[in-house]
Amino acid sequence: MKPISMIALAASALACLIDMTSPPAMAGQLDVEAGQALYMKKGCYECHGPVGQGSIMSGPALAPSPLPVEVMTAYVRSPKGQMPLYSSKILSDRDLVQIHAYLAAIPASPEANRIGLLSEGAATSSSLKEDDGRGQQVYVARCASCHGASGGGGVGPSLVGVTQRRGVSGVESFVRNPSGAMPRLFPQVLTESDVQAVAQYVAGLR
Ligand code: HEC
Ligand code: HEC
Repeated sequence: MKPISMIALAASALACLIDMTSPPAMAGQLDVEAGQALYMKKGCYECHGPVGQGSIMSGPALAPSPLPVEVMTAYVRSPKGQMPLYSSKILSDRDLVQIHAYLAAIPASPEANRIGLLSEGAATSSSLKEDDGRGQQVYVARCASCHGASGGGGVGPSLVGVTQRRGVSGVESFVRNPSGAMPRLFPQVLTESDVQAVAQYVAGLR
């Protein structure tokens, strides 16, 4: 595993510890509104777009389905590439909880799945039948080339047992926001339900 994934894991582990000692953050409507104001005021929108949709020119999409708040916080405190560093002086952890509430409240836009760089794949993946074999179909079409026909690994690591480490929702988050050499397939190639179906399929790999 690459150092960045280790950092993300460590950050989530730490956040779990903190969660046990402090009351859970309530993401109510007030947070969503405050978060939207902060998202504008602190300039996130200039690079990530007014509804977090991202731009090929200036910054990746942050919504829908933002990174978990603790991973996002760890990221803005120690960003990479062109993303500027926001210290806790100019953007508190509380501000980030509210920005996260705003991003999490942004609905998925079905149109977005049909646009984009990798759009040859979009038609196939979104027209797949909603049946039990869907996760497998997505896996065979989009993952097997790197992770092996039965998940044993190849260009990418083995996925057998990965849900024990990351959980099914952790696999979904990773597919939405991958690190390292893993390509970003969501939302251009995979729809939200494709991501969920393939994560379920991955959980069944033995
Ligand atoms: C000057 C442009 C700019 C501003 C302003 C900016 N970002 Fe970014 N952000 C980027 C770029 C570019 C990246 C991708 C960096 C890379 O991977 O090379 C990024 C990456 C991120 C990521 C990681 C996304 C992922 O999927 O890996 C998060 C989270 C993020 N930004 C949150 C924020 C938040 C929250 C704000 C406002 C407080 C903000 N950014 C302001 C340019 C910006
Ligand atoms: C072009 C090759 C490629 C494709 C296609 C690909 N992956 Fe990956 N994947 C990778 C690589 C490389 C990594 C290791 C990333 C890193 O360095 O952190 C990875 C990592 C992962 C991880 C994290 C593994 C761990 O040990 O924590 C998961 C989960 C995953 N991929 C799932 C998928 C799923 C599901 C699909 C299909 C929807 C997919 N991948 C498609 C190359 C690929």
